[in-house]
This record gives sequence, C-alpha cells and structure tokens, in this order.
Amino acid sequence: MNNQPIGIFDSGIGGLSILGEIKSLLPNEHLIYIGDTAYLPYGTKSKQIISERANKICKYLLSKNCKSIVVACNTATSAAIHELRSSFSVPIIGIEPAIKPARLRTQSRIIGILATEATLGGDKLQALKQKFGQDIKILHQACSGLVEEIELGDRQSQFLHDLIETYVEPLIKQGVDTLVLGCTHFPLIKDLIQKYAGDSVRVIDPSLSVASELKRQLDIKNIGRKGGSGTTTCFQTGNNKTFETFIKKSNLNYGSPNLITP
Ligand code: DGL
Repeated sequence: MNNQPIGIFDSGIGGLSILGEIKSLLPNEHLIYIGDTAYLPYGTKSKQIISERANKICKYLLSKNCKSIVVACNTATSAAIHELRSSFSVPIIGIEPAIKPARLRTQSRIIGILATEATLGGDKLQALKQKFGQDIKILHQACSGLVEEIELGDRQSQFLHDLIETYVEPLIKQGVDTLVLGCTHFPLIKDLIQKYAGDSVRVIDPSLSVASELKRQLDIKNIGRKGGSGTTTCFQTGNNKTFETFIKKSNLNYGSPNLITP
C-alpha cells in the first residue's frame, strides 16, 4: 500500500495551498490533485450538490488506488466529511476554520473568519464555535466573488484588491486582531490579505496543520512511502484555461482534462 498515491481535491486551485505543504512535508509521496472546475465555485452551492461532487471525486480517486484522501476545501469538508468517512475506509483528512489556534493567539478576544457562504452557514462551524469560541467574539465575513477572482490568477487585478479591502477592513475596524483563512483559496493571496489587514493583525493559514495531520495518519497506519521522490499530477473536471495556466506556472504536471465526466 505504501507506494499508492494520495488523492487531494478542491473546487479549483485553492487546494494547491495544501498540496504545497504536503509536498514539502512528504516528498516521497505520489500525489493526484483534482480541481472540480466544472462545479466551481462550491461556496454558493447546496450541501447536497457539494456532497454529491465530493462523493464522485472520492470514488474516482479510490479507483486510482489512493491510500488516503485530503479534502483540501473547507466548503466540501463542512458539507460532506462525515458522509465520506462513513462511505470509504481509507483515511480522509479534512480542513476546518482554525478557530482553536486563533483563540489561543488573540489579544483583543475578537477574531474574524473569511470563508464561503456555505462554510459560514454550515453546522460544522456552529459546532466549532460551541467548542472553542465561547469566550471570544467571532465575526464572519462571507467573501462572495473572491474565489472566482483568485481563480483568474491575476494578482494585480484592481477588482481583486477592492474585494479584499471590502471584506477585510470592516473586520479590523471592529477590533479583529486575528484573521482565520477559512477557505483554501485564501492562502494563495495571504500576502494581499495581510497587506489590507495591517502588520499588527495575525493571519492564520491552517495548510501546514492539514499536511501534518495527513502525515500523522499515514504514520499510524504505517502506509507512508519510504523513499524515492514522489510525483504530482493535477487534473480538472472542467476545461478552465486559467486552471491549466496556474498548474503549469507552478511547475506541476498537468493531466489531461475532463477526467471525470462533469
Ligand atoms: N477552496 C474552497 C474552500 O476551502 C472552496 C471555494 C469555492 O469553490 O467556493 O472553501
């Protein structure tokens, strides 16, 4: 089992923020990445549609012999992780807004979460807030349109900068000193978010902790690949030129599109 690949998926390029950490932490592992660009964005879709997509992609990854799957998407984790874990027997690692670490760091006792509408409206976030957020104030910001703008890959875009400013500034004005990136697309523009938040604000990117959790699970089951250098191939379900360009610019292998019939 040790030589089998690890599957990673997101709606688009967002999960590459996690893939990067996995590649650094587990350089021996073979990785298959899927961007479900035919259904991007997930954040405005129903729980049922997101669950169906997550299920379909996991089935595909298992048909490619994956020994573990990383749901590199907060929205899909929120909508589907319980179902995925009960349907499939391989270790499935998800990602959720990092309220726990934010609570430990905030001085003002006010934290902000930037995420999609679906993540902010999901039961998972409510449960996290119950568990870790009782003695702090948690402000939400749904970032409509930001995922789509990040997917376009133009970091200089005025519209991208305007959106970030619109979403970040009101939180800072309300006393937020710790900002949680609750969508895997956002670490890709972490420096821009930091710029609009200001130097005194701590921006929390949970990508490394997801990679560490994956390593922990592989170690427990003793299914990690022991040597050699791992390969990475990235596929998409749609045919987005911007996805292809981003993958190639990131020096990753681009697999032929329309791998899974949308
Ligand atoms: N990157 C995803 C997340 O972490 C989903 C973004 C989207 O497709 O709306 O929530």
